[in-house]
Amino acid sequence: MDETTTKPSYYLTTPIYYVNGVPHLGTAYTTIAADTLARFQRMDGKDTWFLTGLDEHGQKVAQAAEQADVTPQQWVDGIAPKFLETWKLLEITNDDFIRTTEERHIKCVQQIFTKMNDNGYIYQDNYKGLYCVPDETFFTDEQLTDFAEKAAAEGKPHEAEDGTKLCPDCGRPLTLVEEENLFFKLSAFQDKLLAYYEENPDFICPEIRRNEVVSFVKSGLKDLSVSRTTFDWGVHIPFAPNHVSYVWVDALINYISAIGYGSDDPKQQEEFKKRWPCQVHFVGKDIIRFHCVIWPAMLMAADIEPPRKVFAHGFLLTKGEKMSKSKGNAMSPEELSRVFSVDGYRYYFLKDVQFGADGSISLERMLQVYNADLANSWGNLCSRAFNMTNKYFDGIVPDIWPQTTAKLTAEMGNPLAEIVQGLHERYAKAMNDINYSGALEEVMVLCDRANLYVEKSAPWNLAKAAAVEAEQAAADGTNLNAADAPTANDRLAFVTYNILEAIRIMALLYAPAMPISSKEVWRRLGLGDVFAVDELKDNLEWGALPAGNKVEIGDPLFPRLKEEEI
Ligand code: MSP
Repeated sequence: MDETTTKPSYYLTTPIYYVNGVPHLGTAYTTIAADTLARFQRMDGKDTWFLTGLDEHGQKVAQAAEQADVTPQQWVDGIAPKFLETWKLLEITNDDFIRTTEERHIKCVQQIFTKMNDNGYIYQDNYKGLYCVPDETFFTDEQLTDFAEKAAAEGKPHEAEDGTKLCPDCGRPLTLVEEENLFFKLSAFQDKLLAYYEENPDFICPEIRRNEVVSFVKSGLKDLSVSRTTFDWGVHIPFAPNHVSYVWVDALINYISAIGYGSDDPKQQEEFKKRWPCQVHFVGKDIIRFHCVIWPAMLMAADIEPPRKVFAHGFLLTKGEKMSKSKGNAMSPEELSRVFSVDGYRYYFLKDVQFGADGSISLERMLQVYNADLANSWGNLCSRAFNMTNKYFDGIVPDIWPQTTAKLTAEMGNPLAEIVQGLHERYAKAMNDINYSGALEEVMVLCDRANLYVEKSAPWNLAKAAAVEAEQAAADGTNLNAADAPTANDRLAFVTYNILEAIRIMALLYAPAMPISSKEVWRRLGLGDVFAVDELKDNLEWGALPAGNKVEIGDPLFPRLKEEEI
C-alpha cells in the first residue's frame, strides 16, 4: 500500500506576500512559524503540505512597477527570486510556491467568480468610497467616522493638512475610488458565518481575535466591492471582461488554486480532495477579517467548505512600534541570521515571542537569549558530552550490559529518562496548539536538567575513581568485569550514555525550530538524517542511541557572542 495515503493530511499556509518590497522580519516571522509547524507535522507522521507564495496583482504593485519604470510583470519577476532566496537561507521547506500571476491560479480565480455569480452572489453597482492603496482595503463612511472620533479622543490626526482622510490602519492618505464595480453579497453570510464560528470554536485563534471577529460580524456586514475597472493589473473576470478582481479576492483564492481546485487534471482534483479543508492558515492579526470573514463567505458562496483554522499572530514591535521599513526600524533577516546564525534567529522569534501576542524585539534581548539558551545551555552541553565521550571512551558511544544498566538505574536513578517519559505528549500538545515557546520550553527543561546532571554526577570524578579501580585490579590481578557489582567505569559509561541519549532526543525536538544544528548534532552522534524521522513518538523511546556509534566533537554549535559582535 502507498504509505502516504495512510498518513493523515496536514495542509498549512502562510499569507502570500506583497511584492512591493523584499522579505522583512514580519514576513519572515510568519514563514518561520509555519515552517516550524510543517517540519513538526512531517516528523510526527502527517502527510504535510506547506504552501507559501506571492500576491502579485493590485494597484500597489502596479504603482511600484510604474515608479521603477518597468512593466508589472517585469517588476514581480524581479522580486520573486528575492523571496525564494530568503526562504532558502532561512531553511524554509515549503512544498509549493504559488504566484498569483500563474496560469493555474488565474483560471481558478475565474472559476470561483463564475461560481459565485452563478449562485447569485455577485451584482454590479457603482462604487464611491475611500481606498487605502498600501493596504489594498476599502473603508466605509462608518469606519471613517469611528476612526475620526477615536483619533480626536486620542489627540491624533485623522486627516492630512489638505483635508485628505487618513487610513485607520496604517495612517497613510486614502484615495477616492469612484467606478463601476462588481459586488459580492457578503451581507447574506452574516448568520452563516456566526453559525460557523459557533460550531467551530477553534476556527479563529487566539481567542482575543475570535471575539474581535465575532463582534465585527454581529455589528453587521456590508456587501463588498470585488472588482476594479480603472486599472487592469489583475485577473479579468470572465463575465465582465473590463473588470479585474479586487486583489484580496484574487489573493485568498491561492489557498485552493495551488492544490488543484477546478483543475482539469484528475491528479490535481484528487490532490484538492485530499488537502482541503486546510488545517491552518497562518496570518498576522492585521489581516484577520479577510481570512475569517471574507474568505469563508466566498467559499460558502462557491459551495466549498471553509478552512479548519486561522491562527493570527501578533506584531513584532521594536521600541514599542510596529516594525516597518518606512519607519526605519526594520532589521533584515539576512543581517540578523548572519550574526546569530539561522537557527539562532529562528529560535529567538519562536521562543521569546508568545505566538499570538505582540512581541517586543531587540538586539540586546536577542543576544541575551542566544547566549543563555543556545551558547551556554544547549551548545555547551553538546560540547561537554562530545568531549567526554572522546576523552573517556575514544569517541565511541559506550556499550553497557542491560543488567548493569538496570542495576545502575536502581542505584543512581535516571532523571533524564524520567523527563523523557510523556515528553512526546507534552511537546506535541504545545506544537499542535501552535505554542512554540511552550514546546521549546519542554526541551529546555530537559536541557537544563542534563546540564545539572553533568554537574551532579561529576564524570571527571567517576573517571578518576575508574582509574584507581583499574590500577588496584591490575595490582591484585582481579578481573573487574567479572564482578557482579557495577564498576566506576560502568558508572562513567552509564552517565555518558544518558547525556548523549538526552542530546539525541533534544536535537530531535529542537529540529523543527533549529534545523541546521539539529541535523548536525545527529550527524555528530553517528545517526542518520534527523528529518528522515516520521514517527517522532517511537524515536523518543529512551535508549535508541546505538552503542558503538562514533561521536565527533566538532566546533561549538553556538559560539558565545559578545556585545561588540552584534
Ligand atoms: N498580500 C497580503 C496577504 C494576502 S493572503 C491571501 C499581505 N501581505 S503582506 O506582505 O503585507 O504581509 C503578510 C504578513 O506579514 C501579514 O500576515 C502581516 O501580519 C505580516 N507582517 C508584516 N509586518 C509585520 C510585523 N511587524 N510583525 C509581524 N508580522 C507582520 O498582507
